[in-house]
Amino acid sequence: MQLMEEKIRTEGKILPGGILKVGSFLNQQIDTGFLRAMGREIARLYGGSGITKVLTIEASGIAIAAAAAMELGVPMLFAKKHKTSNVDGTVYSTVVHSFTHGTDYTVVVSRDYLLPGDTVLLVDDFLANGAALRGLVELSRQAGATVAGAAIAIEKAFQGGGDALRAAGIRVESLAVIESMDGGTVTFRR
Ligand code: G4P
Repeated sequence: MQLMEEKIRTEGKILPGGILKVGSFLNQQIDTGFLRAMGREIARLYGGSGITKVLTIEASGIAIAAAAAMELGVPMLFAKKHKTSNVDGTVYSTVVHSFTHGTDYTVVVSRDYLLPGDTVLLVDDFLANGAALRGLVELSRQAGATVAGAAIAIEKAFQGGGDALRAAGIRVESLAVIESMDGGTVTFRR
């Protein structure tokens, strides 16, 4: 998506450790016109895939997932980062290890909302090592739902998560794919 590459070039800030800051349009302040365009692009990519639900993880994925779900005309569902146990068995749950933050966290989604008959589109803002996306794939597997694929705003290809998921047979569409951020310059995959 040309516009995504332009936004990253003009507004993105490269931080140490291979982190890209996009707080001006995606992660803190949200450019709403651009959000609508992202939703439309994701709906164009997955329009013919029989999606019944868009699934993301709180927090930063929610806005993009909602924009995509609105365009697709389906509900948006977000997995919650949870600290308590699943004592009453009402949720699907899995542990995600974040390399970016150096922590483990549990994500849960209610059994009432993620259903065996669902065909889900997984959406997130960033794809780095892919731990968050693998967590969503696992929650979908537990529910018996079908994963149609993933739509990501910004993939950092140099961390390998996206290509590993593609190699595992999952369709991954990213609106911008960053090959490298070496020397303070963003290079996109062509
Ligand atoms: P990981 O396996 O390296 O941890 O990467 P993953 O793709 O699972 O993403 C983990 C978290 O790190 C996500 O947020 C993602 O948005 C964030 N992240 C990864 N790389 C970058 C980056 O370059 N820039 C920014 N701004 N964020 C990045 P999260 O932990 O789920 O938190 P939240 O922000 O969604 O609440």
